Amino acid sequence: MNVLDRIAPLRERVDRELEAFLPAGGERPTSVHRAMRYSTLAKGKRLRPVLAILTAELFGQTAERIAPVAGAIELIHSYSLIHDDLPCMDDDDFRRGMPTCHKAFGEAIAVLAGDALLTCAFEMIIQNGTQGGFGPGVLLEVIGELSRAAGSRGMIAGQVEDIECEGQEIDIGRLEYIHAHKTGKLFTASVRAGALLAGAPQGELEALTRFGALFGQVFQITDDILDVEGDTAEMGKTSGSDQRKKKATYPRILSMEKSKQLAAELVEQAVTALAPCEPRAAALIELVRYLPARRA
Ligand code: IPE
Ligand code: IPE
Ligand code: MG
Ligand code: MG
Ligand code: MG
Repeated sequence: MNVLDRIAPLRERVDRELEAFLPAGGERPTSVHRAMRYSTLAKGKRLRPVLAILTAELFGQTAERIAPVAGAIELIHSYSLIHDDLPCMDDDDFRRGMPTCHKAFGEAIAVLAGDALLTCAFEMIIQNGTQGGFGPGVLLEVIGELSRAAGSRGMIAGQVEDIECEGQEIDIGRLEYIHAHKTGKLFTASVRAGALLAGAPQGELEALTRFGALFGQVFQITDDILDVEGDTAEMGKTSGSDQRKKKATYPRILSMEKSKQLAAELVEQAVTALAPCEPRAAALIELVRYLPARRA
């Protein structure tokens, strides 16, 4: 069984949570509710919520209790993809194996569906988070974590510089900043949310924070690699999009070979970061080791 098969039950658990929480497509305003469901319930890997669950499981928590918060993280991620694909951003037509949200529903509804998903995420934690038996204190901590990660010092910071660096020659330090923010912050917050909910001790929380950031970095380097070498049908999004938009990417700035080398080195650093959580961290190790070979 490969790692994707092993995490399939967690993915399905998250999907059930999302399905139940999102407003029905028939509820007014139907266009935006249909768009929110279309983009979110599409075939995504659910890696961020799965990371939150696997992290919490390190400390004896169950997927059942973490699922509402994990689902909320996927809402934030789905919003970010809808906006990332807009004509004013990356201008992509294909996502999760289907036409992008603005292609299917128009730009105005895509913008509004993204806005609604972001705010819905916090509503979901407030409304359903307590079902896991969590008190308001820890849920507030998690809300703080996720709002910082999504905001202008987090994911948005990376998205801003990603756009502003199109067509420019930038150095590797700036590229690291972009990747650490646009992708790394939400991965780190996913791991930290799981750890916080599970009451992880400080030393392990710090180790997991390092792991989350490295996981995000490897994930985005492989995303850049797949844009060059990946297959559109397998990825469910159009390859060559970065070249078309003259994006600053690892293969462009470092060369393909060095990008692969770096990804492999960062995987080892991520595994090393988990030392304080050994021998319980096997699932997280397996997941990060899978990243350089992923096809989607
Ligand atoms: C795509 O994320 C956006 C990036 C940060 C590269 P994923 O590759 O996790 O997308 P889904 O959720 O599986 O569609
Ligand atoms: C997107 O990065 C990061 C966020 C959505 C925050 P990319 O623009 O590289 O993601 P893809 O390749 O479109 O999935
Ligand atoms: Mg982008
Ligand atoms: Mg994009
Ligand atoms: Mg990309």
